[in-house]
Amino acid sequence: MRVCIVGASGKLGKYMVRHALDRGYEVVGVCRSESVGKLQEFEGRMTVIPGRTNDPEVIGRAVAGCDGVLTVLVPWGIHGYSTGTAQAVLDHADPEARLIFSAGWHITRDGKDEYSWQLRWLVPILARLARIFRIFDIDDQVEACRRIFASDRRWTVVRGSDLEEGESQGLPLWSRHVGDPVLASNRTRRVDFALFMVDALTNDALVQEAPAIVGRQTPSARAHLDAAGGSAS
Ligand SMILES: NC(=O)c1ccc[n+]([C@@H]2O[C@H](COP(=O)([O-])OP(=O)(O)OC[C@H]3O[C@@H](n4cnc5c(N)ncnc54)[C@H](OP(=O)(O)O)[C@@H]3O)[C@@H](O)[C@H]2O)c1
Repeated sequence: MRVCIVGASGKLGKYMVRHALDRGYEVVGVCRSESVGKLQEFEGRMTVIPGRTNDPEVIGRAVAGCDGVLTVLVPWGIHGYSTGTAQAVLDHADPEARLIFSAGWHITRDGKDEYSWQLRWLVPILARLARIFRIFDIDDQVEACRRIFASDRRWTVVRGSDLEEGESQGLPLWSRHVGDPVLASNRTRRVDFALFMVDALTNDALVQEAPAIVGRQTPSARAHLDAAGGSAS
């Protein structure tokens, strides 16, 4: 399988590169020119295409012939970077390619997510402050996901909970809606967020789904697994 990782030089991107190489996939990575050095450890094992991930010409070259595209929807910047990145991937990836995008729990597909008071109140305040100080624009990722949800492509939007570093705990559990008890722990190891993204390439049950994920060894996931007799995936 040939996969393109858009945003390969970031923390999530590098974990995805490792998982994809471990699976024997051919990997093409796109990252900003100034970040190419961050991929040095993979030299000779992947192809790197330097460029802005919202540049349609760069993305067109990178995704050509790829069976899957893993895209980090960047939370930074205020110039529609995530939206431009998502649109370029939707426009240029091969018609049958699996398209996996990263986002956070704040993205809702059908409005049926139930958020804690912290998320309901703090996210809008932080979003406003971030925009005022030109740090990030949360609406950019929202617009990127709106376009993905409206597309008839074979997409999956993986919605990460709060992230932490650490050893892998295995494939995270997921639910369609934030507020489901399985997600209550709101914590996933970044390495496992990447694992879920890469695994989704070959999981057709996730086509046109927006799974919200949680770490497999968190208390809420363990309670769910115990109740299911350890059979949940
Ligand atoms: N952090 C969390 O707690 C959290 C929680 C839930 C979901 N998520 C999701 O997880 C994904 C990865 O997030 P992360 O926090 O782990 O970050 P990350 O993997 O380090 O990714 C950050 C990305 O943003 C790029 N970037 C940084 N500054 C930029 C700028 N000014 N203009 C354009 N690109 C810029 C980086 O590229 P360079 O390598 O070129 O700098 C990198 O590709 C995102 O989709 C995020 O929404 C994160």
